Amino acid sequence: MLTGMVDVHCHILPGVDDGARTPADTKAMLEMQYEQGVRRIIVTPHLRRDMFETPADVIEEAFLKTKELARQVAGDLMLYLGCEYHVTSEMTEVLRNDWRRRMAGTKYVLTEFSGSASFESIRKKVNEILQYGFRPIVAHVERCMGLAEKPENLDELAEMGAYVQVNASSVIGEDGRTVKAFCKRIIKDQQVHLIASDAHDCKRRAPNLGACAQYLSKKFGDAVAEKLLITNPTKLISNDYM
Ligand SMILES: [Fe+2]
Repeated sequence: MLTGMVDVHCHILPGVDDGARTPADTKAMLEMQYEQGVRRIIVTPHLRRDMFETPADVIEEAFLKTKELARQVAGDLMLYLGCEYHVTSEMTEVLRNDWRRRMAGTKYVLTEFSGSASFESIRKKVNEILQYGFRPIVAHVERCMGLAEKPENLDELAEMGAYVQVNASSVIGEDGRTVKAFCKRIIKDQQVHLIASDAHDCKRRAPNLGACAQYLSKKFGDAVAEKLLITNPTKLISNDYM
């Protein structure tokens, strides 16, 4: 088991989005995370216009409650507050004014694009976020058609200063063979910076970094598993470059 993993994308706060519904769900998810070897989690409730618009102070309250639940699960399970931000025109202003919409108070921003967003529009937004002094992490790139069609686009984003996240479920094949093959290729080509669970519950979209770590070690070696699941996300929390 790979102990000390850091999950940087997880919908575990109770009752704020389509993730955990109740504190009991939250606690069950935290237990699964811990049993699989996760020791730090950046919780990332959705922020998406007309869909998930929970005020930041409500989120913060749910976060404090969740931290207490984590303490009950294990003394060395650390939680940080983050956000999965679905792009809007005013997001850079919001990011500047509210640390709670960023990742663990750092300059990193977990940025979600529509699956149909063109590469041009992604590049434009990434550039805007960078110009404001933040570091975008493109969430689950395997869902972005504008990126999945042409993996060399990922190199361009990385050269600009963006980071690339994929979901563990996609890596281990739960989202189909094509997606799995795509993830395998971009991991092999070192185009991925972070792999995270994007967990929403304990069943269909459950914490799964344990299975993912096993898969990565087997296919790419222990060093790759460690880099993507411990080293890089640790740098994120420290606000260092990955
Ligand atoms: Fe998510």
